[in-house]
Amino acid sequence: MKILLVAGTRPNFIKIASLMTAFRARAFFQPILIHTGQHYDEKMSDLFFRQLEIPEPTENLEVGSGSHAVQTAAIMTRFEPVLERYRPDVVLVVGDVNSTVACGLTAVKKGIPLIHVEAGLRSFDRTMPEEINRIVTDALSDWLFCSEEDGVHNLLREGRPAERIFLVGNVMIDTLLRHRERAARTGILEQMGLGPRRYALLTLHRPANVDDPATLSRLMEVLDRVACDWPIVFPIHPRTRARLEALGLQWRGQWKWIEPLGYLEFLALMDGARLVMTDSGGVQEETTVLGVPCLTLRENTERPATIRLGTNRLAGTDPDRIWKAYEAVREGAVQPGPLPPLWDGRAAERIADALEKSVASCALGQRK
Ligand code: UD1
Ligand code: UDP
Repeated sequence: MKILLVAGTRPNFIKIASLMTAFRARAFFQPILIHTGQHYDEKMSDLFFRQLEIPEPTENLEVGSGSHAVQTAAIMTRFEPVLERYRPDVVLVVGDVNSTVACGLTAVKKGIPLIHVEAGLRSFDRTMPEEINRIVTDALSDWLFCSEEDGVHNLLREGRPAERIFLVGNVMIDTLLRHRERAARTGILEQMGLGPRRYALLTLHRPANVDDPATLSRLMEVLDRVACDWPIVFPIHPRTRARLEALGLQWRGQWKWIEPLGYLEFLALMDGARLVMTDSGGVQEETTVLGVPCLTLRENTERPATIRLGTNRLAGTDPDRIWKAYEAVREGAVQPGPLPPLWDGRAAERIADALEKSVASCALGQRK
């Protein structure tokens, strides 16, 4: 099977890492990796390829940044000739970013079957750009690989046929389990002068939180109160950096403002944290597996298993609610639960198995 995999952003690289490993280990697959160039800073892209030992992409489309329409259109325009050049049997996309939907749409319009990994997640909030990307990509896909049970239910409710839906577990967690020990050896806590469980870790990049200065100010003021209790390590996403600088707030807490971190350093910092605060999708899942309390600074999540089973709590975006949620963690109210089903490090293997089997059964069907 000539399988063309698409990756464009930081979380995509982490998911693609385990898929490339699984496909490269089997003679059945001929994987071709295409980087759209949606993320391009060394610390948002190349660093992940090096640390996770992802093979060099066959092509980088170098689309860069732009409005949703400009970026999505640029990816489609540059991806179409790639499909003509490599003529893959299938295209595989992961996650919910603009690269996901743009390449998915281009592939199906060329008559190429589409695989979506991390299918079926829904925040039920259509103001979120990722929600639109998820709905469209799932509607287009021929194989829908789900990371949690809610994904399966959402797809069935939307009328997708059951035989196209597979609950396989979480490829992002495959990568985490594979690299956790290496991460512990980075020495990042010692380098930063941090004691285990003596600091909090923060990430923020959702447009709904960071694009409007008044909203970002309100959030940062309550987080500054938290930083009076614990040092907060804040690796700042490029979308957020300029907006934070423009706020001109006076900080009282103990802040460690830093550039985006490599995967291994960030994983080590999550693993050692007293508390993680985030609006990231992937970080909610990773803290669930690490058993570290996570406050999600959003009004909803597309990953409900992290709340039902894991250490994640929806703290919302209202400062009083965030403070109360923080106090509950400070008093030790969040306990790790059982892991979501199949978050065991073998999701990419299950995907490879399912693809091999479905092609084999199709071939048998044709011979009959
Ligand atoms: C994108 C995804 C989001 C995902 C996030 C992961 C969409 C719609 N959004 O958001 O779902 O959670 O990636 O991190 O696809 N920039 C740089 N250097 C880079 C990349 C971005 O400076 O390497 C800056 C640019 O100013 C750019 C802004 O960040 O305009 C936003 O980048 P973009 O890829 O459009 O969206 P993200 O916010 O990164
Ligand atoms: N991450 C990282 N360095 C950082 C911040 C995050 O390696 O400085 C990793 C994190 O472990 C997770 C992924 O990036 O696996 C999440 O990406 P992001 O929050 O950008 O995207 P989302 O998951 O929200 O789409």
